[in-house]
Amino acid sequence: MAEMVRKSSSDEILNHWILAGSCILLIITGFAFLFHLEFVGSVFGGFNFMKTVHNWLGVVFILSLFYSMRHYLKDALEYDDDDVQWFKVAGGYLSHKVKVPPMGKYNPGQKLYYLAIVVAGIAIALSGFGIWLLKGNTTVMLLSHLVHNVAFCIFVIAVPVHIYLGTLANPGTFQIMVNGMVPLETAKKKYPKWIKAVGKM
Ligand code: HEM
Repeated sequence: MAEMVRKSSSDEILNHWILAGSCILLIITGFAFLFHLEFVGSVFGGFNFMKTVHNWLGVVFILSLFYSMRHYLKDALEYDDDDVQWFKVAGGYLSHKVKVPPMGKYNPGQKLYYLAIVVAGIAIALSGFGIWLLKGNTTVMLLSHLVHNVAFCIFVIAVPVHIYLGTLANPGTFQIMVNGMVPLETAKKKYPKWIKAVGKM
């Protein structure tokens, strides 16, 4: 059997499922409020109860987002010359002729995705709590709705792209979300600098 290397720890895998599950349910219920989708409302026992579900999913999401910082924040804030070069060749996604530089554990696209989720996640949670808890204050209400909607747009664009890249676009990657493992040979090709750093090359 092929030798495997662990890329995600079990708490990281569990937290990713909580983050992903809460986020996707928030997006679905958010869409249902926006377009008044009766059939989605009825799945959640009516719009009123769906609002309560949405609010508390927001609490789960933000706690999970804060917990994720111990896994990704440090990596997401560090960029080297290879990362700059990766941007110049768009990660090799636009042409097979370009030379993609060697990568560490995460490529800069993943790092920027994480930072976008952190910034948009904090903004959407704070504004959500404003809408939930500060109903009496008109200024807070207006600002919160604006921020909530802008951040929602970021999620609606970024999350489907992330799901596509983590599944169809890069076969084998989804396994990391399930058991955290990658075949060593694949890891040597995709993340050579990380494999070197953990002493397996
Ligand atoms: C259910 C759909 C999803 C799938 C199939 C999926 C898939 C994946 C996979 C395979 C990885 C590991 C990538 C690697 O280590 O190279 C990953 C990482 C990650 N995912 Fe997801 N994901 C999903 C939903 C989400 C959602 C909704 C969020 C956030 C709101 C999210 C946030 C992250 C973060 C922050 C990472 C680590 C950094 C990165 O790879 O960008 N994921 N995901």
